[in-house]
Amino acid sequence: MRAGRPGGAALFAPEPRRLRAGYPSSAGPAPRRFRARFVPARQGPTPRVLVRGVCDHGGVTDIPRGSVEQQTFYEQVGGEETFRRLVHRFYEGVAGDPDLRAMYPEEDLGPAEERLRLFLIQYWGGPRTYSDERGHPRLRMRHAPFQVDRAAHDAWLRHMRAAVDDLGLAPEHERQLWDYLVYAAASMVNTPG
Ligand code: HEM
Repeated sequence: MRAGRPGGAALFAPEPRRLRAGYPSSAGPAPRRFRARFVPARQGPTPRVLVRGVCDHGGVTDIPRGSVEQQTFYEQVGGEETFRRLVHRFYEGVAGDPDLRAMYPEEDLGPAEERLRLFLIQYWGGPRTYSDERGHPRLRMRHAPFQVDRAAHDAWLRHMRAAVDDLGLAPEHERQLWDYLVYAAASMVNTPG
């Protein structure tokens, strides 16, 4: 990661993206909340929030707990199943691409598939199993042993694009996911040419 990219830290210290349920896409980008890195991982289900609403007669009323919830992007797009499908479809593409496949050291792509799935789940606000098992992502460092050049970058994104298309997400979700993947892939390039 080069210095000066404001969103860069998010790639290495993934934080859940939270959107309010029903947040209108026309109202601009979804609100993002950032936590200090020492805050322990959230445990248990997504917090339900107690909100204050304004009645049509102008008074303020409490909306009962649970009637409005904050959802992570992970939850909004369908949770684990969606990420399982995404990454499985991606690795089918890798398996059928001799040049890209040659970069993956293991004969069995299953463990690599699981690592990428767990990482993306964690990044988008799901369970933090990736870090529990692998520690801090440090993705650029973990890619250092591999020559990620322009061709590898393009192939990786091509297979990811096909996988994203297969999900059939709502346009706003698809855009958020794709924008992130494009940005993250660019930041993983470590070899000229
Ligand atoms: C730009 C093209 C990319 C190439 C050619 C590439 C290639 C690779 C290779 C060869 C591995 C080793 C397989 C393994 O042992 O897991 C790997 C691991 C991994 N990659 Fe990528 N990658 C790319 C981009 C990305 C991006 C954009 C992300 C995240 C959004 C990502 C996330 C991961 C993760 C989470 C692992 C496993 C790290 C670990 O825990 O060891 N990669 N990648």
